[in-house]
This record gives sequence, C-alpha cells and structure tokens, in this order.
Amino acid sequence: MTSPKNAAQRRRLICVRAGKALESRFLFNARAAARMTTLEGKRILLGITGGIAAYKAAELVRLLMKAGANVRVAMTDAACRFVTPVTMQALSGQRVWTDLWDPQVADNMGHIELSRDRDLIVVAPGSADFIAKAALGLADDLLSALTLARRCPLLVAPAMNVEMWGHPATQRNVRALRDDGVLIAGPAAGEQACGETGMGRMLEPEAIAAEVEAFFQPRLLAGKRVLVTAGPTEEPIDPVRVITNSSSGKMGFAVARAAQEAGGEVTLVSGPVALAAPAGVARVDVRTARQMFDAVKARADACDVFIAVAAVADYRVRHPAEHKIKKRAGKRLTLELEENPDILAYVARLPKRPFCVGFAAESRDLARNARAKRAEKGVPLLAANLAQEALGAEDNALTLFDERGEHPLGRGPKIEQARKLVAHIAAMLAAGDRPAGRAAAGRRARQPRS
Ligand code: CTP
Repeated sequence: MTSPKNAAQRRRLICVRAGKALESRFLFNARAAARMTTLEGKRILLGITGGIAAYKAAELVRLLMKAGANVRVAMTDAACRFVTPVTMQALSGQRVWTDLWDPQVADNMGHIELSRDRDLIVVAPGSADFIAKAALGLADDLLSALTLARRCPLLVAPAMNVEMWGHPATQRNVRALRDDGVLIAGPAAGEQACGETGMGRMLEPEAIAAEVEAFFQPRLLAGKRVLVTAGPTEEPIDPVRVITNSSSGKMGFAVARAAQEAGGEVTLVSGPVALAAPAGVARVDVRTARQMFDAVKARADACDVFIAVAAVADYRVRHPAEHKIKKRAGKRLTLELEENPDILAYVARLPKRPFCVGFAAESRDLARNARAKRAEKGVPLLAANLAQEALGAEDNALTLFDERGEHPLGRGPKIEQARKLVAHIAAMLAAGDRPAGRAAAGRRARQPRS
C-alpha cells in the first residue's frame, strides 16, 4: 500500500478489516453520569405513579441527586404498592409526600406549597391514568393536584402497556399535554413487564436524567440551524475491506446533542458508528468521504453553524476491486490512493458560508498544528485535542483556538466539553465574529475536489 504521508505522523490509523454492519444502540456511560454535576442547585419534584417501572424511579432519584439536584418526591397510592416511600425517603434524604389530606402540612395546602420552590416537576413513571388526568386537569390526588397547581414546567416519562400507549385515548391525552407545553420523554420500545413487546417502556433512568439535564441548558443557539459531521468514514478497498480510522463518533454526537440542547435545529451527518442519534437531532448516515461531502454540500447553504467533527479519510482507493482481493503469498500488494475532498475547507469558502468550526486531533505539537490548521482551513474557531487521549474515550481535554488566542477547556466528559464549545460558539456569534483573514486563509486552503 502506498501512502503519501509517513505512517507514524498520521493521526488516522489506517486499518483493513472485514466490512460489517454496525448495530446502532444506546450506549450509556455510567462513569460520565457519575461525574456530572450539571444539576447543582436545581430543585426538582419527582412524581411517581403506579407502574412496574416505579422501581426505576429509585435509580432516577440517585442520579439526579448525584448530579447535584435537590429532589423532593411525591407518590400516588398506586406507586406505593410498587415501591415504598421509605426507599425514596432514604435516597432523597427528604420526607416523601403521598397524601392530599395530610394534616401535617401547614394550612393543608401541600398541593400548592410542594411545587412553589421547584424548578421542574418530573413524573416518572407517568401512567396512562396520570396522563389522562393531567390532560383533563383533574386533581383528585396529591400528585395530580400539585401538577395542576404548578408554576414550573412539567416533564413526563410515560410507562405503560403497549396497547394502553397505542390507544387513541392515550395518544389524544399525550397530544393535549404537548399542546399545553408539557415535555414528554419517551416512551421506548421493547419487552414489557407484562410479557408483551412494543412502545410503552419507560426510558431508562440515565436517559431521563439526560433529558432533565438538557432541559436546564441555556438556549444559546435558539433559532440557529446547525450542521455537524461525526465519526469516521470508510473507503472501500474491495467488497469486504475498507480503509477507516479509530474515531468512535462520541465527540461529534456529544456536539450534536449539546447544540440541540441549546435550542439549535441540528442535522448530524454521521459515518459508520455504533451510537444512537441524540433525541431531537436529524441524522443522515453516510459511509464514504464523498458521501459525507455530498450530504454536507446539500445542506451547507441552509445552515448557520457548521461543526466538522468527523475524522474524514483524506484518501480513498483509486480503483476499489469489484471482487474480494485474494492473497498472493510472497507478493506485495499496492493500493493507489487519491485525495478526498476537504469538506470543511469547502464549506468555509462558500460565498454564503455558515460560521465554521473545525476539529483537530493531533498526536503532537497541539498548539502549533492547531493554529496552522485553523488558518489553512479558513475557519474562525478550531477545537483541538491529542488523539491518543481522545479516541474512543469518554473524557476529552479540548483547547479552543480563535483569533483571540487559545482557550483550554480542562478535562471532562465529552458532553461537558461539547457544551463549553457550544457556549463559546454562541459567544462568538453574539460578538459578530467572522473568520479571521478569511480571504487570505481561503486562498491558502486546499482546493476541494468532488
Ligand atoms: N476535514 C474535512 N474533510 C476532510 C478532512 C478533514 O471536513 N477531507 C475536517 C475535519 O472534520 C476536521 C478538520 O477538517 O474538522 C481537520 O481534520 P484533520 O483530519 O485533523 O485535518 P486534515 O486537514 O486532514 O490534516 P492532517 O490529516 O494532515 O492532520
């Protein structure tokens, strides 16, 4: 195989492996969740209704508390048949509220007082019965009464049997709640406690905690259309072998999620990765660099921000073999490679270009390489990290380079790094920053080929 660059200097590891469809699934990282403190100072009322998923509410309390939230729990009578208030009291460190007629509550106004100091009410699991009552504005128990009397937002994580979820009455009630501004998280599809399979499973506690976290993010990119590239690309050698690299896509997916949480309308163009798209993000799957280029070209004009996180293969095989290449013992195999289009440089030089952000994963001389890459690509902002510290990891330590200099973000989970990056982008947009030395940089940038 001939390569125009010294292999030791290349960021990407070129590997040849059997082409295999990657299963897309939700990957939860317990380590990252354990460290998140993004709910510090937030006051949440967690309502638990009757359903087998009530046992998962215990884990949700733990996660919210670990993230720094103050959690007050209210349970319906039915919920108390599935889990005990004692469990919730032990986990939340607070008295658990169950009774609308509790004589210990001053003035008997629990249904009003319990939510007044709260930033958010989360109901998980939210039964079909609770959803129906909330849609109608009924208030015959503590939880329904306090959600009706609330001033703060309400997030419901539905959990019920597949037929109950699919019933027109439930769908009507969920629509009514959405119209009233209630956030609905889930449900998910899968095997149910009753033995049936389908929509209706409550989201896992980690996913609900992520929704809560997302709810509290400032809407820094509200009204902005954001295009993100993520993951590796694959360049075919023959029908079963490809040239690719070790990018997991985690950083790009975290950036897409952070932009969506910040109120952006996000499209994620992703190479082959084993990750599920963040909720609310439109996903376009591609395989090769040229497919990624086409997907970006079709959307670049209509976006306000373009964030190129993908580890795009710089080269493709000039003539991929139609059939599997057979081993010829003792003989060398030479592959001729040709250059792929530089997607970021192309977008950064469009006449009507969005605000462009590049990424650089370097193996050494981070600052020098990053500054050079920022100028070469003609982008106002470039996020750089050391590849050996970032590839496949949950943590990262990005440094941002802009015309004001360099801004290290410290080390932390990729979602936290992504949120800091989004905040930096929003600040630059608000300051009206444009690409530094764009014309000169544009002339220096490599000519993209399609
Ligand atoms: N990029 C791109 N299209 C390419 C190559 C890179 O859009 N064909 C983008 C990446 O998504 C990233 C930035 O350009 O935002 C830098 O990518 P990187 O691979 O680090 O830089 P290269 O320009 O390929 O330079 P080198 O591999 O020599 O470091």
